Amino acid sequence: MQEVIFAAITEGVYVVTSRDQDKVNGMTAAWVAQVSFKPLLIMVSIAFTRYSHELIKNSGIFAINVLNDEQVDLGKRFGYKSGRRVDKFAGLAYDTAVTGAPILPEAYAYLDLKLVHTYPAGDHDLFIGEVVDAKILHPEAKPLIFKASTFF
Ligand SMILES: Cc1cc2nc3c(=O)[nH]c(=O)nc-3n(C[C@H](O)[C@H](O)[C@H](O)COP(=O)(O)O)c2cc1C
Repeated sequence: MQEVIFAAITEGVYVVTSRDQDKVNGMTAAWVAQVSFKPLLIMVSIAFTRYSHELIKNSGIFAINVLNDEQVDLGKRFGYKSGRRVDKFAGLAYDTAVTGAPILPEAYAYLDLKLVHTYPAGDHDLFIGEVVDAKILHPEAKPLIFKASTFF
């Protein structure tokens, strides 16, 4: 059934970043969606086991970097190793959002979020963030659409 879901549901590819004091990290996520207009709320579904889960829970902030269609390499860089063991930002330039979360300067766009709700969902938690800032960085680029064949 998972193959059907991969083929049937269209998702983007995002790098969800966070910062807890001096520790910065990011992880690739496909399960991101807007869930409210007023206030502007965005959901990201993150497995309990991810280091990002711990950082977002502790700091209460995160940013969603929307990858462009030439950034599959960044999707892999942030999607296969845990920030518990490696510094995924090593050698990578980044900016800092209002909340303090890292922003990838070449991404299509970013959303900067303050955590307002957390709901359990199976083996993941749904983190709901209120948008405090949002910007299209490269309007000429195209957002990356997730294809299982590209990543797995
Ligand atoms: C294309 C792609 C999409 C992913 N989407 C999610 C997701 O939506 N939620 C999630 O918990 N993990 C997702 N992952 C897995 C995490 O990115 C991966 O486990 C990462 O190493 C976690 O890093 P961390 O431990 O530093 O937080 C995805 C991975 C890839 C390659």
